[in-house]
Amino acid sequence: MTKTYLEAAVEIAQEAGKILIEELSRPLDIRYKGDEVDLVTQADRRSERLIVERLAKYFPEHAVAAEEGTGHESASASEFRWHVDPLDGTTNFAHGYPCFCVSIALAQRDTLLAAVVFNPFYNELFTAGRGEGAAFNGQRIHVSKVASLSTSLLCTGFPVRNRKASPNLQYYGDFTQRSHGVRRDGSAALDLACVAMGRFDAFWEFNLQKWDTAAGVLLVEEAGGKISDFEGKPYQLGGPVILATNGLIHEEMRSVASEISRRAPASS
Ligand code: IPD
Ligand code: CA
Ligand code: CA
Repeated sequence: MTKTYLEAAVEIAQEAGKILIEELSRPLDIRYKGDEVDLVTQADRRSERLIVERLAKYFPEHAVAAEEGTGHESASASEFRWHVDPLDGTTNFAHGYPCFCVSIALAQRDTLLAAVVFNPFYNELFTAGRGEGAAFNGQRIHVSKVASLSTSLLCTGFPVRNRKASPNLQYYGDFTQRSHGVRRDGSAALDLACVAMGRFDAFWEFNLQKWDTAAGVLLVEEAGGKISDFEGKPYQLGGPVILATNGLIHEEMRSVASEISRRAPASS
């Protein structure tokens, strides 16, 4: 195996992206994963099949954690684990809204090493390697320089699972009134990539899964941004809340978030 981890992830994400584009023009085959808004399509399944097979071929000793459940533990209890979201933004995809991507990241124990987020509709490729910076279509990217919440463009998301119990509407309303606005684009991986390249100044969301955030976290960190939970503690993949910012507005966001949670405690 001579490919670097990042090269392999890029190749695989681009192949999976071709499947998503192909599926976009075919009749939709939607199924529901329990809740009435938790969709899964043929595109999620085909994309995941390709990614998992290709990772197993290139890195047979690595574990793969993939959203639709076809990943595997390694036979040799490897410390390397791929976090795979074969289609992040399934609801957007199902409605033909072209904000969706493939998200692939490699972690060695708790350290993220390589990340790819690829939107095949716009051919937007975000990559990061630990200690090597982040890039957008091959060009180095950095977080924004906006230094106050009042002039920031923010982004958040609302979970599809257990959505009626989400505390986020309070945060959404409050942050909307204190900033240039809060977008809700429907793909956490792309939302984080947009923080990394300075389109958004910050992103937060409750109850995301490891495969939603693994690649985006490394992108933001390598682009010079900051990640934590709302208390300022290190964010653990799969943790109850993620706050990703350009660093400059991190403390302001945190302090507003704690004010909101004192008024309306989050039960996440
Ligand atoms: C979802 C998207 C969305 C976020 C949801 C996720 P999926 O992932 O990232 O932006 O708000 O919480 O579940 O289901 O499209 O892979
Ligand atoms: Ca996802
Ligand atoms: Ca998904």
